[in-house]
Amino acid sequence: MTTVLIANGPNLSRLGTREPEKYGTTTHDELAALCMQWGSDLGLEPVVRQSDDEATMVGWMHEAVDNGWSVVLNPAAFTHYSYALRDACALVSSAGLALVEVHLTNPHAREDFRQTSVVSGVATGTIAGFGTDSYRLGLEAVAARVH
Ligand code: DQA
Repeated sequence: MTTVLIANGPNLSRLGTREPEKYGTTTHDELAALCMQWGSDLGLEPVVRQSDDEATMVGWMHEAVDNGWSVVLNPAAFTHYSYALRDACALVSSAGLALVEVHLTNPHAREDFRQTSVVSGVATGTIAGFGTDSYRLGLEAVAARVH
């Protein structure tokens, strides 16, 4: 079975209470449970993680390469400036593994600093603006590639 790592970046642990008018009221635990259900319904083996730490997330991308995992990644604020995470994502996609960048909101409809994603250029594709459904769509994209 294909393992898919659902990796969430900084401040996403605060979902539920973090700016609910933008990010909704679903908590990270609830999002993780949804991803586990959606992933297994699609015949995938989901692993959900969250970190506020750039080095930890870089390490997860290395782990995905070494284990042949697909990745659904919400890089959160790292999206906009982390070249280290971008380079780690490039290792995933250049290994032929799907790397789907997801966002709850549509960063292009928000502040100027969110208009740039340093990750998009090395992602297989990007899904943004559909709330928690961005993750479901991301998992569907992974499943479509591996099945
Ligand atoms: C986000 C958008 C980012 O700009 C922001 O820093 C986040 C969440 C989203 O899911 O909409 O933390 O990635």
